[in-house]
Amino acid sequence: MRGDPQMPLRKVTVVGAGQVGATAAFIMALKQTADVVLIDVAEGIPQGKALDMMHARSIEGFGVTVTGSNDYGPAEGSDVVVITAGLPRKPGMTREDLLAANGAIVRSVIAEVRERAPEAVVVCVTNPLDIMTHLAWRASGFPASRVLGMGGVLDSARFAYFIAQATGAPVTDIDAVVLGAHGDTMVPLTRHSTVRGIPLAEALPAAAVAEVVSRTINGGAEVVSLLKSGSAFYAPGASVAAMVAEILGDTGAVMPACALVDGEYGLSGLHIGVPVELGCEGVRAVRQWDLDDAELAALRASAGGVADVLATLDLGV
Ligand code: APR
Repeated sequence: MRGDPQMPLRKVTVVGAGQVGATAAFIMALKQTADVVLIDVAEGIPQGKALDMMHARSIEGFGVTVTGSNDYGPAEGSDVVVITAGLPRKPGMTREDLLAANGAIVRSVIAEVRERAPEAVVVCVTNPLDIMTHLAWRASGFPASRVLGMGGVLDSARFAYFIAQATGAPVTDIDAVVLGAHGDTMVPLTRHSTVRGIPLAEALPAAAVAEVVSRTINGGAEVVSLLKSGSAFYAPGASVAAMVAEILGDTGAVMPACALVDGEYGLSGLHIGVPVELGCEGVRAVRQWDLDDAELAALRASAGGVADVLATLDLGV
C-alpha cells in the first residue's frame, strides 16, 4: 500500500503528541510520507493517538505505521525528528519563564535525539521558534544544515490565504512569502508575492495590501482568540508535513524556514526565517534573494529582536 515501492522505508519521529504533533503525524500518515513515531511524556497519549490513527488505516488506505511511545526506543535511526514538545504560556508566567521551561524541554529532547537518531534532520516547531531552533542546534552539536525550524511555511500559507480572500483568486494561483522571525516582527514580502504572476502591489490597492499584511502578522493570534484555549494546529501540522516531505524527498524545494544565517542578508549567528533550499541533509543552502532597502531593514530589525532575546539566554550546553 506504500505510495512508491521504490522509496526506501523512512522514519519520522514527532516529539510532542499534542495538537500540532498529532496533526502533523496524521497528515504524514495520510500522505504516506514515512513511518511515524509519536513521543510524549504524557502516559498513554502518544499510544492512544497512534492507535486511533492506525484505526483509520483501512479507511484511508495508508500503508505506513504510526507508533506511540513514552520513551525514545522506537525513534532509533529516525531520518527526521520534529520537536513540538513544549508548554503553552500559563497565567502568571512571564515570557522568560516560558523560554526557560521550553528551553529545558528542547534540551532534554535533543539529548535523546543525539543518542537515538544522531544522523537525523531536526525540525523545531516549539515556540518561541527562532530561539528554540537556535538552542536545539547549539545543544545538538549537529551541523547547522541539520537543524531548522518551521515558521515561514505557516506564515506564508496564512499570507496566501488572506491574499486569496482579498483578490478572489484561487489560492493555488498565489505565491506568497514571509521571511523573518516567527512572531510579530515577521516580514511579509509584498514585492515578492504574486497573484497569477502579478505582484501583490499591482493586484490590490495599498490599503488592502496593508490589511492582508496585518491579518497575516496576527494570523496566529486571531486563531488563539477564537479558540480561547490553545493555539493553531491544523495549518502548523500541515506546514510541518510539507517540510518533512521535501526533506525526505531530497527535492531542493525552496521554502521559507528558520535557519542559521552566516552572512546572508548581513546577518549571522542566529536562526531566522530565510529562503531555504531543502534536501535530505536539511538545509541545502540559504538562498540570497534580492531584497530592497526597506525589506532588508525589516528583516534586520526582526533579527535584532531575536538577537536581543538570545543575548539574555545562557546557551551553555
Ligand atoms: N517530552 C515530550 N513531550 C513533551 C515534553 C517533553 N519533555 N514536555 C511537554 N511535552 C508534550 C506535552 O505533554 C503535550 O502533549 O508536548 C505536547 C505539547 O502539545 P500541546 O500542549 O497540545 O501544544 P501544541 O499546540 O501542539 O503546540 C506545541 O508548537 O506551535 C508550537 O507554540 C506551540 O510551542 C508550542 C508547540
